[in-house]
Amino acid sequence: ASAAGYAIDNPVLIIAGALVGASGIILTVIMCKAMNRSLSNVLFSAFGTAESTGVVTGEADTRTVRNYGPEDGAILLTNAQSIVVVPGYGMAVAQAQHAVRELCDLLQDQGIKVAYAIHPVAGRMPGHMNVLLAEANVPYDQLKEMETVNPEMENTDVVLVIGANDVVNPAARDDPQSSIAGMPIIEADKSRGIIILKRSLGVGYAGEQNELFFNDKTMMLFGDAKDTVMALIQEVKALAE
Ligand code: TAP
Repeated sequence: ASAAGYAIDNPVLIIAGALVGASGIILTVIMCKAMNRSLSNVLFSAFGTAESTGVVTGEADTRTVRNYGPEDGAILLTNAQSIVVVPGYGMAVAQAQHAVRELCDLLQDQGIKVAYAIHPVAGRMPGHMNVLLAEANVPYDQLKEMETVNPEMENTDVVLVIGANDVVNPAARDDPQSSIAGMPIIEADKSRGIIILKRSLGVGYAGEQNELFFNDKTMMLFGDAKDTVMALIQEVKALAE
């Protein structure tokens, strides 16, 4: 845009182009820092080429996960005193943000403390989750940054992971061989209970298997995130009657 501004001698276009370029650079630096990777690594490495296919890559994994239904999920949620929601790319794909807000409102009406934990690279663009949750009118003071929620995790009853994967993968912290080693994560595994909403055991953007699925505290609720959240809403309402 700046070059076009020079070509047609338009100062507004030159300034606007420079501002867009500068903000793009700042966002890119923030994104690289949040992923603990260099710019060249982000641009040229193979990281992120694996698509979520619903099939676990690598050697066959014979471990089992705990597959529950919305009834069980609703019981766990309504018995909690504090819940942290971790939204991710899958919530965006499912367009589940309005249903998520409705579910959280219902839980808050029952006196349960609910916060949303926002990882800086959750989703596929900077501020992706903030934009979606703002669209659903989630009050801004309920959005918590990763650095704020992590120290509170051990005192959190349930972490509700909605379509997030890499941003809660403990391998980033525990496995130096992992392609996401060193990336700061939301430490969902430190909470007392974990509910994960996704369609399969498929990998996320980084193509890494997630140990969190196999954690003894984890309850998997398989299905499209919006459908599952809607089902949870019905079950929470039924329990309240
Ligand atoms: P991901 O790790 O990409 O995982 C998203 C998960 O959503 C997938 O595992 C997928 O599992 C699930 N999903 C997809 N559609 C769904 C649906 N309709 N309902 C329910 N679940 C669904 O997401 P994340 O945790 O948000 O992490 C973001 C990743 O993107 C990071 O690795 C980050 O580095 C990278 N990245 C971020 C950015 C920015 S700036 N945000 C830019 C480039 C790359 P199933 O297929 O099993 O459902």
